[in-house]
Amino acid sequence: MRLGVNIDHVATLRNARGERYPDPAVAAARVVAAGADLVTCHPRLDQRHIRFDDLYALRRASPVLNLEMAAVDFMLEHALRLQPDWACIVPETREEVTTEGGLDVDLVDLPRIIEALKQASIKVSLFIDPDDRAVRRSASLGADAVELHTGAYAQADASETQMELQRLIDAANLGLASGIAVHAGHGLTLDNLSPVAAITGIQELNIGHALICDALFLGGLEASVKAYKALMASARES
Ligand code: PXP
Repeated sequence: MRLGVNIDHVATLRNARGERYPDPAVAAARVVAAGADLVTCHPRLDQRHIRFDDLYALRRASPVLNLEMAAVDFMLEHALRLQPDWACIVPETREEVTTEGGLDVDLVDLPRIIEALKQASIKVSLFIDPDDRAVRRSASLGADAVELHTGAYAQADASETQMELQRLIDAANLGLASGIAVHAGHGLTLDNLSPVAAITGIQELNIGHALICDALFLGGLEASVKAYKALMASARES
């Protein structure tokens, strides 16, 4: 199972003081050296963390780069120039603090944007809620993968956790049966990730906020990446 490290919040910290450090590209190189399988970043249209001028240094620092992007032409143009390995299409509104729900898979522009990315040999994933129709529609749109939004699972109280986990399991199984790769992410932490990492159909987890925060207390980015990788491996084995 691959670990994608979302390095947006290294840029959040930099931007909070209007400084040049910490540098997200340096962080990207460090997490890769520590064993992350890919680097994920989300240049939001308001550039609140990753900025468009970060992207090329991130591309150079990341052997595998996953670009999260809104389904708009402006971002498509950035993606076509940048040539990330993956483009993960996400919903985006200015008001939200973070990506709050899955993509509307019926967006009119989606088929055209997916096709343009695929024509440029960029693999496409769609960040969707763990919902049957969204998985089926993603497969019919020709996406290479779905990334299941784990936010509802991560936020669930004790009485709902099992139900939210089952939704992820069912969506992962349907993804596999539909011939589409399955990734997952959002809100995952060292405390809640094991049951998700144990879902065999899921091939990749993208983790950001908690992993970057844990670096403060675990002794740095390297230690944090290693802790997440180790927990993912042990969840898979058990
Ligand atoms: N995957 C996607 C598509 C996301 O939008 C995000 C948040 O930017 C993440 C994963 C990582 O979420 P978190 O920062 O909560 O780990």
